Amino acid sequence: MTTHKPLVFSGVQPTGNLHLGNYLGAIRNFVRLQQSYSCLYCVVDMHAITVWQEPAELRNATREVASAFIAAGVDPKAHIIFNQSQVPSHAELAWIFNCVARIGWLNRMTQFKDKAGSNREKASVGLYAYPNLMAADILAYRATHVPIGEDQTQHLELARDIAQKFNTDFSVPDFFPQPEALLQPEGARIMSLKDGAKKMSKSDPSDLSRINLNDDADTIAKKIRKARTDPEPLPEATEGLKERPEARNLVGIYAALTDTRAEDVLREFGGAEFSRFKGQLTDLCVVKLGPIGAEMKRLTADPAHVDAILADGAARARAISAPILAEVYDVVGFIRARS
Ligand code: TRP
Repeated sequence: MTTHKPLVFSGVQPTGNLHLGNYLGAIRNFVRLQQSYSCLYCVVDMHAITVWQEPAELRNATREVASAFIAAGVDPKAHIIFNQSQVPSHAELAWIFNCVARIGWLNRMTQFKDKAGSNREKASVGLYAYPNLMAADILAYRATHVPIGEDQTQHLELARDIAQKFNTDFSVPDFFPQPEALLQPEGARIMSLKDGAKKMSKSDPSDLSRINLNDDADTIAKKIRKARTDPEPLPEATEGLKERPEARNLVGIYAALTDTRAEDVLREFGGAEFSRFKGQLTDLCVVKLGPIGAEMKRLTADPAHVDAILADGAARARAISAPILAEVYDVVGFIRARS
């Protein structure tokens, strides 16, 4: 990993079923960032257990996310891929941040309110403190750039607040940087194939609502064929997509996969029936996702190989974060062995 480039950190939770939305919204961007940044891509298994995970499934899902990174084109030698729990710095710094962040700050986190719902008393303490761990993930490396989806901007702001309060409380003005979001453009927001108003999600009970990265060609074809649409043909211009969320989503997927814009897609398909467009979209998905799915399958068939990549990544991540944690411990006033 070259160190003269700015540092990117991002995390993906291993909670099953990676889909097209994860690919276009996050993983593909991770691949592109490799050119301009030194990148740490973390499978955040410690975040995952803030809600119950079956241990065997957690292990598989961790390997699956790592495999997806690699299959999509992240280079685990030039950059770092690892699972969070293998680097103790995350938990160590998170504890300190538990003591820096204020309860009032966490009480404002909308994702906790959404996830805990009406059953707040029964939510884990970890789910509540989750944003502090996320801040630790980033700041344990002094990462400055953080690719995230819109739903994580509030958590990143909290990380900035924590960094600032730490720096101020301990009178170490430049100790932690203020990490910046690298937000995805609007078009990267992929919606459910069954409801254009809902995000494509791994937790949707209908598997027809999403294209999974490990779906085979027949399954992809079936899901696109059954995707919800309206009876009108495709419009000639993007204004015509306004009140048609399902049409807009399918056009958006086509545009994202071809690296063009909705305008360009409509220039080609404006006036076409959905049956024809869906056929083309199916072929495109199969061409773009097929090789990734096949490579993921090949990688996950050899768990020892994936585990070795994660262990290597973790060792290199630890080499970056351990000296930073040592400085943090000094700043806080913890005694540690002299070296
Ligand atoms: N909370 C993020 C999510 O659910 C995952 C995550 C954990 C993360 N730690 C991170 C993202 C650090 C960016 C940086 O999507």
